Amino acid sequence: MESKHMTFSLFIIILHFITFSNSKTIVKNLPGFDGDLPFTLETGYVGVGEDEQVQVFYYFVESERNPSDDPLLLYLTGGPGTSGLYPFLYQIGPLSFNFESSWKNNITLELNPNSWSKVANVIFIDLPVGVGFSYAKTWEASRSSDSIVTLHSYEFLRKWLVENPRFLSNPLYISGISYMGIIVPNVALKIYNDNERGNQPQLNIKGCLIVAPLTDKFIDFNSRIEAAHRLALISDDIYHATKETCHDNYIHNDPENTLCSNNLEGVDECTDGINFSNILEPLCDETNMKPTCREAANIFVDAWVNNKDVQKALDVREGIIETWRYTNASIRYYLDKEDTIYYSYDVFSSIADHQQLLTKNCQVLIICGDHDLTFPYVGTEKWITSLNLSIESQWEPWFVRKQVAGYQMAYAQSQYSLKFATVKGAGHSVALYKPEEAFVMMDRWLASHTYSSDS
Ligand SMILES: *[C@@H]1O[C@H](CO)[C@@H](O)[C@H](O)[C@H]1NC(C)=O
Ligand SMILES: *[C@@H]1O[C@H](CO)[C@@H](O)[C@H](O)[C@H]1NC(C)=O
Ligand SMILES: *[C@@H]1O[C@H](CO)[C@@H](O)[C@H](O)[C@H]1NC(C)=O
Ligand SMILES: *[C@@H]1O[C@H](CO)[C@@H](O)[C@H](O)[C@H]1NC(C)=O
Repeated sequence: MESKHMTFSLFIIILHFITFSNSKTIVKNLPGFDGDLPFTLETGYVGVGEDEQVQVFYYFVESERNPSDDPLLLYLTGGPGTSGLYPFLYQIGPLSFNFESSWKNNITLELNPNSWSKVANVIFIDLPVGVGFSYAKTWEASRSSDSIVTLHSYEFLRKWLVENPRFLSNPLYISGISYMGIIVPNVALKIYNDNERGNQPQLNIKGCLIVAPLTDKFIDFNSRIEAAHRLALISDDIYHATKETCHDNYIHNDPENTLCSNNLEGVDECTDGINFSNILEPLCDETNMKPTCREAANIFVDAWVNNKDVQKALDVREGIIETWRYTNASIRYYLDKEDTIYYSYDVFSSIADHQQLLTKNCQVLIICGDHDLTFPYVGTEKWITSLNLSIESQWEPWFVRKQVAGYQMAYAQSQYSLKFATVKGAGHSVALYKPEEAFVMMDRWLASHTYSSDS
């Protein structure tokens, strides 16, 4: 009896220690949402890097269906530099703003019927360090890079799973959007390799799910011209003249090549007024967000999170982040951006990681909006083709409510498979424009892998 009691007390002490060192909290209510949250939301910090000098903040949403069997998704947000709260509130998470009844100082939240948490456990994280509520304890630790983000994501996940062992056996997918196309395959690869080395605990990695990825900093940016042609933004004449004179290289043009420069000016003239996130959306007037923009999301997110009651509800450590910003502009990448004091863009392409994943028991889903000019599906097609995979099913339409929702193509090679799906009419952040279609594609794909082979 006595020893049993002692063990139990020890267990409680250990539990206390764990809870204390990681400030894990179940969030029951959030300002702007009436009543208790009808889903389980956990927030907290996990320390990573040397001496855990980087404190990573996360938002974990349990699956609203069957949390013990449904897949676990680690979702990395793009930029780099955008907070995990942004997709949580604005793309694939359980809540969204009620735009009709919200004002900057009085924001109302509603449930997102197409939340990915309907069928999956999802962890949203604030990475790189300096994003959202994640912070560094020293100046050295505040500097980051593509390689460091990979390491931090991996270390975060491992530690989180050790502390939440009931999710260790769930099928695990590394997922993300946009710039994280550079990072996601590398995180997945690290997990496969560490499992092969026998690292404990073994992580139940099944694959990757990447939305509108940046995969290769040449191919993806370069593909914008061909995409603009396919989308009828530039004429046949302009396209062919540009292609010929620039020798298929539109982003690193030799300044002596004036024919190419002149043609590129013609292209710019045709595309300058276009919103690259979705060619059908207007350009936002930053000074007057409401009338021209579909939704003033950035303003709402910033206003809501900077409310002290919200930070209290999320159990954010006080006095560390002065003003929360949905994105850290000094970390964000644009073509040919040089390294800054904060961040080094040290991975040019993740194609080599994809090539290595081909040898693993790995399932990959790539989703692209076909109206995106940021990282157009044209570039994605290009690097996928370069993998020389055998085709399992040809380009064909896929459907939601008996309507063509987009097109898909599937590839396979021994235990590896890759599905490439477009969403018709969607822009860069696919779920923002076509929430139901994005949800259906994710759900069907996960279900086909998670619940097909076993039981
Ligand atoms: C905030 O908005 C809600 C819903 O639109 C409304 O009922 C409430 O009166 C507003 N509160 C304030 C203080 O304006
Ligand atoms: C952006 O990230 C850097 C690097 O961690 C950090 O020092 C800085 O405070 C962050 N800026 C904002 C506006 O959050
Ligand atoms: C493009 O459209 C989206 C959706 O309305 C908007 O959020 C974004 O700010 C727009 N981009 C620009 C550069 O105006
Ligand atoms: C794919 O095939 C092409 C042509 O056969 C070849 O040049 C290329 O090296 C192959 N790429 C890979 C990754 O195997």
